[in-house]
Amino acid sequence: AVIHRADYAPPAFLIDSVTLEFDLVPARTIVKNSMRMRRNPDAARAARLELMGEQLELVSVAVNGVPHAAARAHEHGLTLDDVPDTFELTIVSACAPAENTTLSGLYVSSDNFFTQCEAEGFRRITYFLDRPDVMTTYTVTLRADKAAYPVLLSNGNLIEEGDLADGRHFAKWEDPFKKPSYLFALVAGRLVALEERIKSVSGKEKLLQVWVEPHDLDKTRHAMESLIHSIRWDEERFGLELDLDRFMIVAVSDFNMGAMENKGLNIFNTKYVLANPETATDTDFANIEAVVGHEYFHNWTGNRVTCRDWFQLSLKEGLTVFRDQEFSADMAGGATDETARAVKRIEDVRVLRQMQFAEDSGPMAHPVRPESYVEINNFYTMTVYEKGAEVVRMYQTLFGRDGFRRGMDLYFKRHDGQAVACDDFRLALADANGRDLAQFERWYSQAGTPRVTVETAYDADAQRYTVTLKQGYGDAAPAARATQKGPLLIPFAIGLIGRDGADLPLRLEGESAASGTTRVLDFTETEQTFTFVDVREAPLPSLLRNFSAPVVVEYDYTADELAFLLAHDSDPFNRWEAGQRLATRELLALAARAAENAPLQLDDSVVTAFARVLTDETLSPAFRELALMLPSEAYLAEQMAESNPAAVHRARQFVRKRLAAALREAWLAIYDRHRTPGAYAPTPEAAGHRGLKNLALAYLAELDDPADAVKLATAQYAEANNMTDRAAALSALLAASTSKETPAAESALADFYRRFEKEPLVIDKWFALQATQRGSAARPIIDVVRKLMTHPAFNIKNPNRARSLIFSFCSANPAQFHAEDGSGYAFWAEQVIALDALNPQVAARLARALELWRRYTPVLREKMRAALEQVASQVKSRDVREIVEKALV
Ligand code: ARG
Ligand code: ZN
Repeated sequence: AVIHRADYAPPAFLIDSVTLEFDLVPARTIVKNSMRMRRNPDAARAARLELMGEQLELVSVAVNGVPHAAARAHEHGLTLDDVPDTFELTIVSACAPAENTTLSGLYVSSDNFFTQCEAEGFRRITYFLDRPDVMTTYTVTLRADKAAYPVLLSNGNLIEEGDLADGRHFAKWEDPFKKPSYLFALVAGRLVALEERIKSVSGKEKLLQVWVEPHDLDKTRHAMESLIHSIRWDEERFGLELDLDRFMIVAVSDFNMGAMENKGLNIFNTKYVLANPETATDTDFANIEAVVGHEYFHNWTGNRVTCRDWFQLSLKEGLTVFRDQEFSADMAGGATDETARAVKRIEDVRVLRQMQFAEDSGPMAHPVRPESYVEINNFYTMTVYEKGAEVVRMYQTLFGRDGFRRGMDLYFKRHDGQAVACDDFRLALADANGRDLAQFERWYSQAGTPRVTVETAYDADAQRYTVTLKQGYGDAAPAARATQKGPLLIPFAIGLIGRDGADLPLRLEGESAASGTTRVLDFTETEQTFTFVDVREAPLPSLLRNFSAPVVVEYDYTADELAFLLAHDSDPFNRWEAGQRLATRELLALAARAAENAPLQLDDSVVTAFARVLTDETLSPAFRELALMLPSEAYLAEQMAESNPAAVHRARQFVRKRLAAALREAWLAIYDRHRTPGAYAPTPEAAGHRGLKNLALAYLAELDDPADAVKLATAQYAEANNMTDRAAALSALLAASTSKETPAAESALADFYRRFEKEPLVIDKWFALQATQRGSAARPIIDVVRKLMTHPAFNIKNPNRARSLIFSFCSANPAQFHAEDGSGYAFWAEQVIALDALNPQVAARLARALELWRRYTPVLREKMRAALEQVASQVKSRDVREIVEKALV
């Protein structure tokens, strides 16, 4: 059944409070649920009460203490006829956590109990009005065997605990804040915590805890520090204080997503909590900081103000991603260092373009606020999260930081404690800044990636420069086209650069004087011309500075102009962007030739342009690393009229080898200069040095004779005091071994496994490195992957492990996955079907690996269709069905 946004109706009943009692037993947990209910005065009178419930065994139902005969349990819940206007409803039911492989609801992982309720998992725990606009206060009693489950946690404050008969004990928790059911959580098991006590801005004592299994306690410090930084940052930047006396983070190794913002009891995938220098890379450290921040920031943007219905998901997710992006930028030094800020911006935009633009071009294209869904779990997407964050960022670009803050303040003043819609956020921003944002609503309702075409003209006599912008969506996918109604309000940031490379002062026609060197144009019409006056020379335009809107910009730059921008643009984002445009253009031309089996060649000027950036010591290492990183194969294949992963791979490898050979001396020098001797620290500066050094190593490994790389990598592998360097060395050895047999690669791989056998997150890296390595005709990676599927450490039920092997191969090794014989697709179909029976959410994610099938070359397309049809004919879950059916339409 399709659920439509337009069908929203308020709930017929409300819950004033709920008391839950759990008797936790893995095979059969009993839940007693007592709710004080009443009819909603603001809803139409309903004939019956419909509670949601799934996979539950009903034990008893009582209304006001009297067993209720007219209660009917069914596949989707519990129906009660003849209920009074106000009543106490008591339901006892049972569920089976040990058998729950879906990891939604209450489940067991490593012999401990955990919950995941967003979006609709609470109904797998008890019968309830499991929708986000039903908010209530929870009192929760947990009872369990004391030896097996010494720690019993739930949301809010611990108000009582004690022993019971038969070696059992209990804990009683009370959450003072009203919340929707998706924010409920409990944890029970053998866990230990790192603790800190801090005072929040108003002087209140707060207890902070990071709970993990005992052997992981040595990997909790960074998460704790990230939490403290998050608390401080939200106080300073947004005036938002932690509202509970106690804030807990718990790590679990079986988890469908990254983490979950349950009120006062965040539950995290271990991947986003556990880190020490030996096991975690710089990227892991940064991701942990970002995700800890993200979940913490949800306490205000998500929990205090929540969503009215799931179509409004981006209200909390887009806003919270924006907040975590800003947090990470500030933590990286971006408050005072513009390039550090740009580095974070570039990383975020890369992800957006590679993943969200792709999503927007296929059958799953949907607006930031979707109009309909079959399974809401399929809509935790790049569009809702990342494009949603761009939409929030545009308010800040339009109104400035102060204006954005004014809007946030008004949003909380109006809506604290409420479940609201995306429109409410927009209206708060509009009202706080005295601007009508009706047109801006289209960013929430239109799918597809906007294209802005730019034409410029310089009139030397009049010293006028005109910029004409046109907006549209190009040939959007049908799913996107159906939503497109009219032009968007696009904040279009622009600068003009003079012959000397410096920015020109800007004066728009009608303004009395020039001011500033970057201007945000209010681009609101389908076509609009902006005229700059007093322009003393023909400038070079720097377009969409800092990526001021999530659009594609089309402008006919020459290769020389791009090289000039790469060397001079004062906007660091656009410097990087110029390099990417230059590289993309060359790579696509080469891919087209590769597709025809024509010989490949690359102009020296391109190599020279990149060499200049690489050796420009005034630029930060982190920036240079990003500038020298070529666009991904997936992104390039996307840009082709017909995606041809093999041709893209050949072209990209050709350029990598060219850059490796032409700049060999520079790479070697860089490798030496950016070593980070001494104790490891995951600071942005040190990480920048390591990143650039390891990029040099990766390029050196591309040489036909990779002897330098093998030597350096072998030493680096052996001597590394941190995972960033060790993993990079291993990866370089694997890469080198594809051009020349490298015994060091095999032995490092074996050593890596032995060394980290007891660290599941590191073994995930071991699987992923092998699944994403380059193959050859003699050694197709599908064979490696199939063999690894039978490795004793492989376990398809653990999502991290499944992702590390299966997903890595199917989504991060395009040249091998899209093998012409269809072997990758056959593997994909098998795994989607296997996962479908265990964990539909994870299966549906994997199912999406083929959704852009129509865009590929005919041979691949037909094989992909066959694989999709095979899955469609066997699949059971609503989750996977929605994905494959939409793909095949
Ligand atoms: N709200 C969580 C976060 O963004 C993600 C939960 C996703 N859950 C799901 N079932 N799709 O931090
Ligand atoms: Zn979130």
